[in-house]
Amino acid sequence: MNIPLIKPYITQEIKDKVIEVLESGYLTEGPVTREFENKLKEFLGVKHCLAVTSATTGLEVALRALNIGAGDEIIAPDYTYPATAAVGPIVGAKAVIVDVEKDTMNIDYDAIEAAITPRTKAIIPVSLFGSPLDYDRLNAIKEKYGVYIVEDAACSIGAEFKGVKVGSQADITIFSLHPRKFITTGEGGIITTQNDEWANWMNSYKHFGMNMNNTAREGVQFEIIGTNYKLSNIQAAVGLGQLHHINKLLSRRIELANNYIKLFKNVEGVEIPRTLTNGQHSYQTFCVFVEDRDRIMVEMRAKGIEVQIGTYSLHQHNAFKNGPLIEVKGAMGNSSWCYKHALALPLYNDLTEELQEKVVLELKTCL
Ligand SMILES: Cc1ncc(COP(=O)(O)O)c(C=O)c1O
Repeated sequence: MNIPLIKPYITQEIKDKVIEVLESGYLTEGPVTREFENKLKEFLGVKHCLAVTSATTGLEVALRALNIGAGDEIIAPDYTYPATAAVGPIVGAKAVIVDVEKDTMNIDYDAIEAAITPRTKAIIPVSLFGSPLDYDRLNAIKEKYGVYIVEDAACSIGAEFKGVKVGSQADITIFSLHPRKFITTGEGGIITTQNDEWANWMNSYKHFGMNMNNTAREGVQFEIIGTNYKLSNIQAAVGLGQLHHINKLLSRRIELANNYIKLFKNVEGVEIPRTLTNGQHSYQTFCVFVEDRDRIMVEMRAKGIEVQIGTYSLHQHNAFKNGPLIEVKGAMGNSSWCYKHALALPLYNDLTEELQEKVVLELKTCL
C-alpha cells in the first residue's frame, strides 16, 4: 500500500537497545521490563504498573485478582474486540453483552444498569480506539451497585477524562502493546491499579504464583497456583525506545486526527464520532462513519490507501451466541450500525498533512 493504515515507530535507538539486550544474555523479564513499567507508571500517573504478555491475558489476570469466576457475571459492550467479553468465560464467569452508544461507540451506560443482576461483579467498559469513558457515569454505577470497573483500555494510552490520564480511574485498567497500538512491544499488555493487594496478587500470579518478596532461587515460595505471563527484556526494549518519545508521539497523533476532522468539515456523507467534551481522545485509531463502507473500503484499497473496519459486533459471531456463559442482553442496533459503517483511516507518526489531504480527496471521490 502507498499509504498504510499503521506504521510502528521503530528507530535506530530501538534497534540498538534490542541488540544491547540480546548481547547482554538477559533475555527474559528483567531490568529492562522494570524500566519500561516504571516509565509508563510515571507517564500514566498510576501507583502500580505490571507488564504482561497481552491485553487479553491482562484482562484475565484482573478478573482473577478480583476473585471473579463461576457463578459470577461481567458486563461488556458488544462493539469491541472479542477479548473484552471472552475474558468472562475464560475465568468461568458469564459475559453479559450490552449495546454501545452510536456516536461515541463506547458502552451504553443505561444498558449497563438494565443488565445488572445480583450476580454482576464487574463492568468491563472499553475506551474504544482511545475515546475516553465517562467516569462520572461509571463511578455512579459502581457506587450504586457495588460492582468493580475493569477498564479495557487496550487502545487508550494517553487518553484523558477531566484532565486525568486513563489508567487510574478504574479499579484495574488494561492496555495493549499490540502493533496496532501506538506504543508496541510486538505483543504485550500493561495492567495498572492503585490497589496494593491486587497488584501484589497479580504480580505473583504472572510469575508462577511466586511470593515476590523473595525471588532468590533457594528462598522461593510458591504461594498460589499461577502462570507465566511475563514480558521479556527484548520486548520491553522495543517499547522503551518509544516511551522515551511518548509525549511527542501522542501530540502528533492528536494533531493529525484534528487535521482529519478539519479536512472532513462540511463533507457530506462523512460523519465524525463524538468524543466527550471533558475528555481527550488518544486516537489509537481514527474512524469515520460512511454509508457504503464495504464498497468504499475496496475502492480505497485499490487506490493504494489502506483502510480497515473499526472493530467487531460480537453478537454476530458464533462464539458470542447465547449460551451458558454468554448472554446478549437487548437489541444491538448501535453496535450493528457501527460494525457496518465505521471506517478506520491511516494514522501513524510519519503521516504528513499532504498524505492526509490525499486520503480525504480520494475518500470524497468514493462517496
Ligand atoms: C478493545 C480491545 N481489547 C482487547 C484487545 C486485545 O489486545 P491484545 O492483542 O493485546 O491481547 C484488543 C486488541 O486489538 C482491543 O482492541
